[in-house]
Amino acid sequence: MRVLVVGGSGLLGRAVCRRGVDAGLSVVGTFHSGEISVPGVAARRLDVTDRAAVRALVAEVRPDAVVATPYRYDDWAVTADGAAHVAVAAAEAGARLVHVSSDALHAGRPTPYADDDPPTPVHAYGAAKAAAETAVRAIDPGAALVRTSLILGEGSKQIQLCRDALAGRAALFTDEFRCPVDVTDLADAVLELAASSYPGLLNVAGPDAVSRADLGLLVAERFGLDAAGLKTTTGAALGLARPLDVRLDSTRAAGLLRTRLRGVRELLAP
Ligand SMILES: NC(=O)c1ccc[n+]([C@@H]2O[C@H](COP(=O)([O-])OP(=O)(O)OC[C@H]3O[C@@H](n4cnc5c(N)ncnc54)[C@H](OP(=O)(O)O)[C@@H]3O)[C@@H](O)[C@H]2O)c1
Repeated sequence: MRVLVVGGSGLLGRAVCRRGVDAGLSVVGTFHSGEISVPGVAARRLDVTDRAAVRALVAEVRPDAVVATPYRYDDWAVTADGAAHVAVAAAEAGARLVHVSSDALHAGRPTPYADDDPPTPVHAYGAAKAAAETAVRAIDPGAALVRTSLILGEGSKQIQLCRDALAGRAALFTDEFRCPVDVTDLADAVLELAASSYPGLLNVAGPDAVSRADLGLLVAERFGLDAAGLKTTTGAALGLARPLDVRLDSTRAAGLLRTRLRGVRELLAP
């Protein structure tokens, strides 16, 4: 199987490239301003905001499957339009599409979100991820859309944020809950879905919900850092437009996939 990993230079994209090569797949990965340092991957530069360039690259590579990961937190053209461009190009090439979405498109509530719950975005990033899903589903109803949560592992921004908060350089919310997932587990799940015909939305996150502040404490324990310095705050007190309690129910993925999605307490066990 030939896989095109769009955003192959990102945290998740790099892991998908690495696991794909390990599994003996032919892997082409794209980068924009970064680089892909994964042996065995054919690297190509691509700007997903350039619709013609996306179509040309996909037509040239002729992948069996396309994995779409790109986003920029504050850039609609990349996160929403770019996802649509990739979906159009994949559909034209007859390639299987796995689009990576986010829990950030939910508003937050005390009960977990099911796979098919519609988006209720409260900020521009969530709205862009929701728009991307709508475009992808309209263009290719057979595509798999993976909603995931905080991605942990080597190079994770989430772990770095915890380290910064432990050093007093940032603050972690005590009232923001997520279901972190390991980057390698997620990459394996994405590749499994690329080889399947699963259509539509799927929550792919870990089984344990934690607050960001508790994630900071787990990181302190795991890496032997002093938890006394942990700076915390609340999203509510700051009045931020952020989804607070967003727990993804990944029961369907756990039953469907061979890949075991490990919880954060297992991942960060000392
Ligand atoms: N990280 C998390 O905790 C988290 C949580 C929930 C959902 N997600 C979702 O998971 C996916 C992957 O996240 P990640 O953390 O792996 O992201 P990341 O490390 O920030 O990587 C983003 C990727 O997008 C690429 N990109 C940015 N602008 C581009 C453009 N104009 N054209 C083409 N590519 C462009 C980047 O390329 P360059 O670096 O080469 O510029 C990079 O490969 C995203 O869709 C995100 O919404 C992530």
